[in-house]
Amino acid sequence: MPPKASSVLALVLLLGQGMLSSPPPSGLLEKLFQYMDLHQDEFVQTLKEWVAIESDSVQPVPRLRQEIFRMMALAADKLRHLGAGVTSVDLGSQQMPDGQSLPIPPILLAELGSDAKKPTVCFYGHLDVQPAQKADGWLTDPYMLTEVDGKLYGRGATDNKGPVLAWINAVSAFKALEQGLPVNIKFILEGMEEAGSVALEEVVRREKEHFFSRVDYIVISDNLWISQKKPALTYGTRGNCYFMVEVKCRDQDFHSGTFGGILNEPMADLVALLGSLVDSSGRILIPGIYDQMAPLTEEEKTMYENIDLDLEEYRKSSQVEKFLFDTKEELLMHLWRYPSLSIHGVEGAFDEPGTKTVIPGRVIGKFSIRLVPHMNLSVVEKQVKQHLEAVFSKRNSSNKMTVSMVLGLHPWTANISDPQYLAAKRAIKTVFGVDPDMIQDGSTIPIAKLFQTITQKSVMMLPLGAVDDGEHSQNEKINRWNYIQGSKLFAAFFLELSQQHS
Ligand SMILES: *[C@@H]1O[C@H](CO)[C@@H](O)[C@H](O)[C@H]1NC(C)=O
Ligand SMILES: *[C@@H]1O[C@H](CO)[C@@H](O)[C@H](O)[C@H]1NC(C)=O
Ligand SMILES: *[C@@H]1O[C@H](CO)[C@@H](O)[C@H](O)[C@H]1NC(C)=O
Ligand SMILES: [Zn+2]
Repeated sequence: MPPKASSVLALVLLLGQGMLSSPPPSGLLEKLFQYMDLHQDEFVQTLKEWVAIESDSVQPVPRLRQEIFRMMALAADKLRHLGAGVTSVDLGSQQMPDGQSLPIPPILLAELGSDAKKPTVCFYGHLDVQPAQKADGWLTDPYMLTEVDGKLYGRGATDNKGPVLAWINAVSAFKALEQGLPVNIKFILEGMEEAGSVALEEVVRREKEHFFSRVDYIVISDNLWISQKKPALTYGTRGNCYFMVEVKCRDQDFHSGTFGGILNEPMADLVALLGSLVDSSGRILIPGIYDQMAPLTEEEKTMYENIDLDLEEYRKSSQVEKFLFDTKEELLMHLWRYPSLSIHGVEGAFDEPGTKTVIPGRVIGKFSIRLVPHMNLSVVEKQVKQHLEAVFSKRNSSNKMTVSMVLGLHPWTANISDPQYLAAKRAIKTVFGVDPDMIQDGSTIPIAKLFQTITQKSVMMLPLGAVDDGEHSQNEKINRWNYIQGSKLFAAFFLELSQQHS
């Protein structure tokens, strides 16, 4: 979409959402916004250059690793041009399960400004992407940013190259207008996020007393709004603990004609165990599991009421006949602020088509619980084990049951009264004319918790992309409008933060 049309679109959306009632931007903001509107094609061009690099970290292929290295070098160059001091942290190599050794792309640490009177805000982003091929069902070449109706299609456009560049665009606007930055800026950029952020934790730990010592705030922009046009601010993500429950008679399977009727069958035990976990209203049946959950406050209730979500549309687009809850508030609370238990599968079961009369000798049931504040992993582990042991022992089975928790990730929640949340809310109001949806994410995004736990700093997730951006899927895109307004949002955020902080 050409610049004119997109600002008309922006205006229409802003007017529709009460832009007129928000305070007019200050003179400087107006200049910054004008600058960004005028230079939006350059911003899109840079995004195009970044998307053109196939920085896929998921497929362990030497050629793709080299592409990530190239991507990191390009970003380092861009940051140096902004005037930042950049350190490229060398991370050696990793041993893959198949024996090959692959180099780990560097993590970039950059800083711009070190004025002790200003707050310091550190931006985290990643420059690697999920795999993509035209043959997967893309309508355009995934590594050639293509604009159709104001949508910029390309792998990494929204996850996460666009948001990283939006932050850089905001900084560059101050620089171009020869305005001093109101905050000190730092960057931590990695190239292995989609492959589990190899080495990130180690670097953050190592840099806790160095790079992070003078950081006041950490901003992550690596998730999406829950609306196509209303901005959001994210203050929590659920954790996850994953369990395996094994029931074993022997390692080999049996024939039901020869052994049926004279055994405790492992599968029957397992079905009973899995069947004891959750009822048909979605309630988890493990005693004590809800006891540690944070109580619902009035303030929180109001936030749910204000969220922009069309339940009927959501239901239809998910192709689900009926959800367990009929109101938007209940549905969102059960996605975000209550734990949930899901049964994922059974290893060792007969799952092919046909009618094999086998009795599996050993089966492993897999389920996980999404955790919310203030659930404690070790307490949950104990409750799950006690519950399964009680159910199993009532069956008087001669089989052997073993329960193990194989993965435990804590939930993350932020203090929304923190200065950076207030600054972001005000910046959103200035740029978009509305208060943001205050949202959480039902899935687990370990990165926010990692930064919070290790650095003990305030962490905020400030998404720029719309709900239909299709991160990780075919035809990923970011709207030109989101990209440019998002760049403005970050600039407004810097100014607001410098005020909120003092
Ligand atoms: C979780 O509970 C255990 C056992 O009660 C306790 O030792 C631990 O400190 C708790 N962890 C957190 C993070 O609260
Ligand atoms: C298990 O054994 C106990 C004691 O032998 C008995 O009372 C109970 O009914 C048995 N339960 C089942 C499910 O067979
Ligand atoms: C949240 O932040 C506000 C403002 O900094 C502070 O007054 C309050 O104590 C914090 N709340 C918690 C639970 O840390
Ligand atoms: Zn991402």
